[in-house]
Amino acid sequence: MIVKSPSNTARDGQHRVLEMIARGAALQDILDSLMRLIEAQSEDVLCSLMLLDDDGRTVHPGAGPSLPPAFLAALDGLTIGPCAGSCGTAIHRGETVIVTDILSDPLWADYHALAVPHGLRACWSTPIYGDGQRILGSFAMYYRAPKAPGEDDLCLPGIATHLAAIAIERARRESELALHRDHLQALVEARTAALSQAQEELVRRDRLAALGALVAGVAHELNTPIGNSLIAATCLADKTRALAGSVEGGLRRSQLARFFAQADEAGQILARNLQRAARLVASFKQVAVDPGNSERRAFMLCELLAELLPPLRVLARQRGVVIETDIAPGLAMDSYPGPLAEALTHLVDNCLVHAFADTADGAIVIRAAPAIDASVRISVSDNGAGIAPPLAPRVYDPFVTTRPGAGGSGLGLHVVHNIVSGVLGGRIELDSALGKGSTFRLTLPAIAGA
Ligand SMILES: Nc1ncnc2c1ncn2[C@@H]1O[C@H](COP(=O)(O)OP(=O)(O)OP(=O)(O)O)[C@@H](O)[C@H]1O
Ligand SMILES: [Mg+2]
Repeated sequence: MIVKSPSNTARDGQHRVLEMIARGAALQDILDSLMRLIEAQSEDVLCSLMLLDDDGRTVHPGAGPSLPPAFLAALDGLTIGPCAGSCGTAIHRGETVIVTDILSDPLWADYHALAVPHGLRACWSTPIYGDGQRILGSFAMYYRAPKAPGEDDLCLPGIATHLAAIAIERARRESELALHRDHLQALVEARTAALSQAQEELVRRDRLAALGALVAGVAHELNTPIGNSLIAATCLADKTRALAGSVEGGLRRSQLARFFAQADEAGQILARNLQRAARLVASFKQVAVDPGNSERRAFMLCELLAELLPPLRVLARQRGVVIETDIAPGLAMDSYPGPLAEALTHLVDNCLVHAFADTADGAIVIRAAPAIDASVRISVSDNGAGIAPPLAPRVYDPFVTTRPGAGGSGLGLHVVHNIVSGVLGGRIELDSALGKGSTFRLTLPAIAGA
């Protein structure tokens, strides 16, 4: 037997295989290289490696780059046992099995027909032990002629099984890790899906609750004017009927005059209350701002404000309030100018009605400047009464007003919020201090979403 300088070539080869393991090369490539490394150490040897399944009984080929593929395929799925060729027996016994002649050895009685036609006559097999003395498979050296191992051959299985054990265990750990990773990922995905479903459900419930509150509020608000109108109408009908009844017996002038006065009063009550109901219905309609009904176009913000402000300035002047502007030049938007103008009008109107209700000499400042992420920041500030801290978080809720019965329905800021976060796709923030004033800050995408 010629052993090709085992010390140097084998050492270099072992380093190469270890490097492949460290670099995380595929197990198949590592085992193939390992088989070739051993084959390079001893003439005429053909190496194979069988892997033992988790069931501890079945083996399948892990590598055998120089053996006939048909022979390896025939070994796939064989069961280990006391008389199962060299490999099956070596794994079963947990020790090296040397078969010097496959044709005559009883261990190969059931298998030599698989090997001999491929010209394989000797097979020495050594079990591969992993951590905890667990057998991972076997390493085999085949020869084309009957043969017993020589002194030099004995060290090769040691090298092969040692490196193979490292490679196989690492690959198994990695696939276990990958399994854990997949499992974790699946868990995270499932949790995320459950969370977003719960979130959607919450949003839906929130919307339903808001809708419920809105409907209840609408009913409550309309109840008073409709109730008043009903009383006035019923009263008018009663009086008319009574008057008609007294026509037969002769009608006094004073009776007729009283009726006219009562009818006039009832008419005024009816008109006032129905007007109030009509105003309420008009503001309810604003609550649902439908982008489909609003025109979208490109516009310059300064031009929109130039159109919007003159009538507001007239109203403000009547109350001794000035409106100042600080608009960055060239602010272009592609959005919904109608709803934006409506929101700004509500905000200015609120300053006039609430911030400066008891004071004159107030100032409203409207500022606009570009913001990050292609947004536009528009603020409406006043130096008036400010909003009390307990009220501040509720100002966007429908029917929240500090002027009930004095014309306030508490829908203005609800509408503004709907416009800003809905059709304009932005957000609104409030900064307010009692006695110092309030600032409503709108951050809007310069180009509204489709
Ligand atoms: N600039 C402001 N200064 C002080 N208080 C304000 C200001 N803007 C809003 N508020 C407070 O927020 C409440 C809610 O405003 P919102 O516009 O929703 O309703 P409203 O003005 O009372 O009624 P509506 O707008 O329906 O006529 C107001 O009643 C007021 O108390
Ligand atoms: Mg208002």
